[in-house]
Amino acid sequence: MRADDRPTARRVLVTGAASGLGLALTRLLVERGDEVLATDTDTERPASLPTGARYHPLDVRDDDAWAAALAEADDHWGGLDVLVNNAGVAAGGRIDVETMQEWTRLVDVNLFGVVRGCRAVTPAFKAQGSGHLVNVASLAGLVHAPGMSAYNAVKAGVVALSETLAFELAPHGIDVTVACPSFFRTGLGSSFAGADTVLADTGRRLVDGSRRGADEVAASVLRGVDARRHLVLTDRDGRIAWRAKRLAHPVYAAAMRRAGRRLAR
Ligand SMILES: NC(=O)c1ccc[n+]([C@@H]2O[C@H](COP(=O)([O-])OP(=O)(O)OC[C@H]3O[C@@H](n4cnc5c(N)ncnc54)[C@H](O)[C@@H]3O)[C@@H](O)[C@H]2O)c1
Repeated sequence: MRADDRPTARRVLVTGAASGLGLALTRLLVERGDEVLATDTDTERPASLPTGARYHPLDVRDDDAWAAALAEADDHWGGLDVLVNNAGVAAGGRIDVETMQEWTRLVDVNLFGVVRGCRAVTPAFKAQGSGHLVNVASLAGLVHAPGMSAYNAVKAGVVALSETLAFELAPHGIDVTVACPSFFRTGLGSSFAGADTVLADTGRRLVDGSRRGADEVAASVLRGVDARRHLVLTDRDGRIAWRAKRLAHPVYAAAMRRAGRRLAR
């Protein structure tokens, strides 16, 4: 985001924009008059995207695809103001059930995908003396329920990366926001691919059965971005859990132990 808070049109690249939170963010940004380069893994433009958004294929695991997407933004707008690292996949798995292949998939998409995006845009953001990195982590990056070690560890990595970059890049005029939503309804459930089918079923139920939808989470993320907040907890459940962990740790630990016992039954 530019250094001031005026609602000027911004040039925004969103990853994972074909579905769920990325799509909701893309729609809101287009409605506000921002220039949006929506990206996702599909070669063809997804039908879900609003007409006001441009589309470019971008698998966040692919450095060449990052270069091509940034070249597209350069050609059309002369650069970018905001990068939203939203693309992600779901995982849930007990440590002795989940495979290393699944850990690798999670790290590649959910952590290295974000690292790649931050690395790709930072030189240009530094050169222009402004920019905003918006990394979509999860409440799982802050509070760590049992049975989700790969997802928790990788999302905690996104939280740590974001905090590091906030301090590292502030002198260059670059803001960093990390969004940590609790479960909300999206297509995320379809991306479970691990060996722990029990935990995948639970995760799918939590995503599909959430009372929150992607639109309200997207609106909360954008309010946080506009206010240039670093940590955005998009919902009440998340704020309660995060506060309990920091301020009432015994209560938090007891709840997590109960969850661990339930899982072991
Ligand atoms: N839905 C939830 O309950 C929830 C909770 C906390 C955090 N999140 C996070 O929100 C983000 C968005 O997920 P969502 O819930 O909207 O799910 P979603 O499945 O609806 O959307 C994710 C998008 O990412 C894309 N994607 C997957 N792998 C990709 C890759 N390698 N390169 C580029 N794009 C890729 C998918 O094609 C999809 O369009 C994710 O980072 C997810 O971890 C979701």
